Amino acid sequence: MQYYGLLLMQPDQEVINRWSGSAPFWEKHREIIRQMFAPVSQALIADGQVDSWHTVLDVATGPGEPALSIAASAGAEGKVFGVDVIPEMVAAARREADHLGLRNAQFDVAFADHLPFPADTFDAVVSRFGVMFFPSPGDAVREMLRVLKPGRKLAMAVWHFADRNPFHYALARVIDRYVESPPVAPVAPEAPDAFRFASPGKLREVFMEAGAMAPTERLLEFTIHAPVSAEEFWALRSEMSEKLRDKIARLSREQLATVESQALEALSEYSTGSGISFPAEVLIVSGTKSRPA
Ligand SMILES: C[S@@+](CC[C@H](N)C(=O)[O-])C[C@H]1O[C@@H](n2cnc3c(N)ncnc32)[C@H](O)[C@@H]1O
Repeated sequence: MQYYGLLLMQPDQEVINRWSGSAPFWEKHREIIRQMFAPVSQALIADGQVDSWHTVLDVATGPGEPALSIAASAGAEGKVFGVDVIPEMVAAARREADHLGLRNAQFDVAFADHLPFPADTFDAVVSRFGVMFFPSPGDAVREMLRVLKPGRKLAMAVWHFADRNPFHYALARVIDRYVESPPVAPVAPEAPDAFRFASPGKLREVFMEAGAMAPTERLLEFTIHAPVSAEEFWALRSEMSEKLRDKIARLSREQLATVESQALEALSEYSTGSGISFPAEVLIVSGTKSRPA
């Protein structure tokens, strides 16, 4: 089952490279990432109408979120499956499930648009920050609806606009002063990118076209709180993001020292007594699988 679909699909190689390279860092920083995005997981649990006895699927789970959090609070009958296209991410999720002793969580390698489950299997399907990287979001939403039980909910979280999210821009702006970006064409609206579904209504439209019943969208305004020092946050953020890792690798040693000190200065605006806190905005889109007529 592990490589189900891999031979049938043509992966977007750039997306695969990006996430394979990120897997060790997402695993290394998993606990802080879990805490930073816990409000998003809670919103998905609420809008996906996840209950403790449900069988839940988490698509593009990365190193296991929100699947592991859902499994940790599930009751005796509750089960969670997580899938991701990157084997290193799936291995990281399995290690953490073992470490936490969670026997009700299972992780497998699969493409979002080719899920290795029979139709009408899950009580809820969720996906946090995944759909923006899928080669064909419409096919993926259709596939997720296929494995969902009729009358149940699919819920996804995507970033709202970049300029509403200092988590993304605060450090990038500092680094961009020192790294010459090659003159590139603007990102095509359909290219895999963290902000591909930032425009309100865009993902809801995909849900509608894929056949979800009464899809809804809401803006989740929350605080990303990382209970770490500015120095630790700089290390975390510059490792977590493939774009930042790439740019930092192009800096000279002197430039890096300057960037780091300016980055810490930029972070002072977001420092609190207990860590680093950013105002954040995410869209939560959900829809119901229709019942057979
Ligand atoms: C931003 S990470 C999100 C990880 C996790 N859900 C979280 O919120 O912490 C995006 C994930 O999408 C996965 N991904 C990208 N394209 C995919 C696809 N076509 N099918 C399944 N997973 C995919 C990547 O491997 C990566 O782990």
